[in-house]
Amino acid sequence: MKTSPSHASLRLDWTRVAGPMLPARATRIEIGPGVLGGLAGWIREECGEARRAVLVVDPGAEEAAGAAVLAALEGAGIEVLRIEIAATESEKSVASAMRIGEAAVRWGIDRGTPLVAVGGGCVGDVAAFAASILLRGLPLVLVPTTLLAMVDAAVGGKTAVNLRLPDGSLGRNLLGTFHPASLVVADPAVLRTLPPEEFRAGLAECVKHGWIADPAHLAWLEGEAEAIAAGRHGTRLVAENLAVKTAIVLRDPREEGDRRHLNLGHTFAHAIESRPGQTLRHGEAVALGMVAAAAVAEHLGRAPSGTATRIRRLLARLGLPTMLDRPEAVGDLRRAMDLDKKRVEGRLRLVLPLAPGRIELVEAPPEEAVAVGWRAIGAT
Ligand SMILES: NC(=O)c1ccc[n+]([C@@H]2O[C@H](COP(=O)([O-])OP(=O)(O)OC[C@H]3O[C@@H](n4cnc5c(N)ncnc54)[C@H](O)[C@@H]3O)[C@@H](O)[C@H]2O)c1
Repeated sequence: MKTSPSHASLRLDWTRVAGPMLPARATRIEIGPGVLGGLAGWIREECGEARRAVLVVDPGAEEAAGAAVLAALEGAGIEVLRIEIAATESEKSVASAMRIGEAAVRWGIDRGTPLVAVGGGCVGDVAAFAASILLRGLPLVLVPTTLLAMVDAAVGGKTAVNLRLPDGSLGRNLLGTFHPASLVVADPAVLRTLPPEEFRAGLAECVKHGWIADPAHLAWLEGEAEAIAAGRHGTRLVAENLAVKTAIVLRDPREEGDRRHLNLGHTFAHAIESRPGQTLRHGEAVALGMVAAAAVAEHLGRAPSGTATRIRRLLARLGLPTMLDRPEAVGDLRRAMDLDKKRVEGRLRLVLPLAPGRIELVEAPPEEAVAVGWRAIGAT
């Protein structure tokens, strides 16, 4: 990684880990305030002599980045087909991918036409999914506009849409492909219009990355929590988190080993998110899940006492919740975990934080320990 206080540049070389499901290419990642200005030039460097591009935009990110990206592309002589997709889980769908595909084909794309997605994880996921199947794969450029998309969703090669299940519920990320972007341009300046609660939700993933693999990053978050939560240090925040994420996904692109550590807090979070009428953001649910997982680790004697308190204190300073927002029965939440695990692979598996940089996967943990985790965040 090349880095300075205002610019960082990473290259994620997938060629070593390529296989039938993962094409051999590199992802160029440019981070820093003002990097949007370099977008058109980098598209030409990474995606060939692009004369046309499909632009998929989250209308919520139009003011922060959508208009600037359109102007940058057109200013560089690139003809643009602009498509809006709303950033909701119900629009993260096969229908939206079809809408992108039909419009793009009608307009006359070829295999060299890049698809540029501007938005958070929702629009990024569905646009990347469309790019991966259109003409069996268009070059993909991601311009993430939320902190979560910058530090997590835009890098790692996973694309996804949700499926409506027979009972009417939404099966999250059930349809997807691996299709790494050729270029990711993460400009922290576009976060200025992001609602503070969305920014904080992204910070939960940063805490997670620190605990999983970067004790120095964790120490920095603990030292500067308030300034970081106020949106200062954006370039360093994004660059250090992407260094963690890129290292993990390169070691384990298909999630057979280390990449599962990225699920720290997520088994609890998915159960919280499945509650009827729940309104917590994913990052907020992950924050709760990390506290619960730490309490389990302490109960099992795998983490020193005080670990859950340490995580809780940092999350609270970052403005994230550490207790459930409403009373909940341990039994109900535990059953919701079962639904999640059946969907995933049939056994309850928890990712436990032992110490900064040390993580353990536990299969079928004792029920009493799981209940301790739920009680640590206020379930009764
Ligand atoms: N592919 C992956 O590896 C991966 C990883 C993590 C999460 N995800 C997915 O990411 C999605 C969540 O993404 P998210 O947290 O980025 O939220 P999001 O895409 O749902 O966006 C949240 C809200 O912020 C708005 N917004 C986006 N950028 C803005 C800006 N700059 N200014 C003002 N408003 C802005 C959006 O319009 C939306 O209302 C989930 O669907 C999740 O499954 C994917």
